[in-house]
Order: sequence, then C-alpha cells, then structure tokens
Amino acid sequence: MVKHAALALCLDRLNAKPAPYRYIDTHAGIGAYDLEGDEAERSPEWKDGVGRVWDAERGAPQDVRNALAPWLNIIRSMNAGGLKHYPGSPFIAQRMLRETDALRLCELHEPSTVLLRDAMGRDKRVKIEQRDGFEALPAYLPPPERRGLVLIDPPFEVGTATRKADFDWMLKAARAAVKRWPQGAYMFWRPIKDLDQVAAFDAELASMLIEDGGIEPEKVLAADLWVRAIGEGKLAGAGIVIANAPFGVADHLRAALPWLCELMKQGDGAGWRLQAASAH
Ligand SMILES: C[S@@+](CC[C@H](N)C(=O)[O-])C[C@H]1O[C@@H](n2cnc3c(N)ncnc32)[C@H](O)[C@@H]1O
Repeated sequence: MVKHAALALCLDRLNAKPAPYRYIDTHAGIGAYDLEGDEAERSPEWKDGVGRVWDAERGAPQDVRNALAPWLNIIRSMNAGGLKHYPGSPFIAQRMLRETDALRLCELHEPSTVLLRDAMGRDKRVKIEQRDGFEALPAYLPPPERRGLVLIDPPFEVGTATRKADFDWMLKAARAAVKRWPQGAYMFWRPIKDLDQVAAFDAELASMLIEDGGIEPEKVLAADLWVRAIGEGKLAGAGIVIANAPFGVADHLRAALPWLCELMKQGDGAGWRLQAASAH
C-alpha cells in the first residue's frame, strides 16, 4: 500500500521530465489483482487496506489527496463500478510510463508469469522474463536511458528461513546494483514484524548504499506504516527504503502517512515514520 502509493509518486515525478526512463521490477507478481477472485476471498486483508482508503479518500485533506492522487487515479480508472480490481506494481508502471519509456519485469514462478503476461498484454515497452530477479538485476544496470527506478519486492514467505534469506538476497542485490548504477532510484520493500530485524537490515542497506554507491545519506529514506503494536510475533506492517527518491516524494509521503495510519490502525500501537535510514 505505502509501496504502491510511493511507487506511483516516484513515477509521477520521473514523468515531470521529458527524457525517457526505465522501470525495473525484480519480483513483479501477476500484474493486477481481482478482489472478487478466490485468492482475494481467501485473504480479505485488502478490505482493511485499500478498501478503507477507497471509502475515505474523498474526505481527506487536500495535501493527502495530492499525495495519493497518482496511485488512486489508477485504481479509479480500473474500478468505475466499485472497488473490484487492484493494480500491482507492473500495472501501475504500465499505466504511468510514457511511449518512450521501458519496463523490465522479472517473475520466477511460471503460473504467475503466465498471469503477468496476460495482464500486460501486447506492449512493446514491456519485456517480461521468467527468472530470478535478484540474479537478473545486475545485467539490467545501468539502463540505456540512464534514468529510472528499480523496485525490489520479494515475497518474504512464511517461515523464518525464507524471510532471512530474502533480507540477505536483497542486500546482495543492492550492493551489485548500486555499484553499477548509483544514480538510479531504488525502492526496497520489507515487512515489519520485528523492529530490531528491520533496524539492522536498514542500517546495513543504508551503509552499503552510502559507502558502495556514494549515495548521500539524506537520500536514503525509510517510510513505514504499522497498523498494530510491533513485537507480538505478528506481521504489524510494512515499509520501504527508498534511495535517490525523486524530488518532492518525501514531502508527499510525510503528508499521507499520518492520515493512512489513523485510517488503517487496528488497535493501539499503530504508527508510522519517515526518516533517514541511518547507516551503522
Ligand atoms: C510480493 S510479490 C510481488 C508483488 C508486486 N511487486 C506488486 O507490487 O504487485 C513477490 C513475487 O515474487 C515472486 N518471486 C519469488 N521469488 C522470486 C525470485 N527469486 N525472483 C523473481 N520473482 C520471485 C513471487 O512469485 C511473487 O509473485
């Protein structure tokens, strides 16, 4: 949710300059989601997420509406008759990129890749590869356009082993990527379940981006939202680390996060933060 709103904001800002750019999604998923399908019925969490935003956004303050506009415009465009479809990251990018821009999407699993191809349709700007996005990433960088954004959004599947592995892979991929293309904008998604784990990860990631990529410390930001108290062994929320966010994105997130937090909180202990992801 924060991820998709932030992604749409970043792409909107990249669109402010005419030079072409490239969007790279290492873990693309299926493209768009049917909120009335079996999968959504089995995991109806979207009702407490985008469902609440959909119902409440017209009453939001103007600065919040401005911040959410690039994301909500896409949701509105696919839901004329009520909220039934939700755009994933590839769909958001496909809708927002211009004729001269390019999309590179990786998805490891075949059934998801089939759905992704279907969702993207015939579009000469889009190239989809069924492969490991962590391994593929260095070969995409730097992109020929020398402008753009990389989204790294692994599943962090159930089970501590997988979760730890995704953190490790993300750090490895970040180091390779930022050495090849330090000027790129990067967005790293991670779940919030254990704050110490997130803090340790952010510190390591920030050190790497700053030391290996030469990125200025104030250009490495963490944006987080949690809907319940952290530390009860349950997933409490999620957030992103953004490096080299386009100008203006941080201000929009600062406007939207408190409103989203108030709207989505599930009991005491909900919170948000937008801060420099401080290095070790
Ligand atoms: C969280 S979902 C991606 C959601 C998508 N980025 C979005 O915002 O709509 C993670 C996806 O990564 C895929 N996946 C898992 N391991 C992968 C890997 N090593 N490389 C590429 N894709 C992978 C999963 O099949 C799943 O579709």
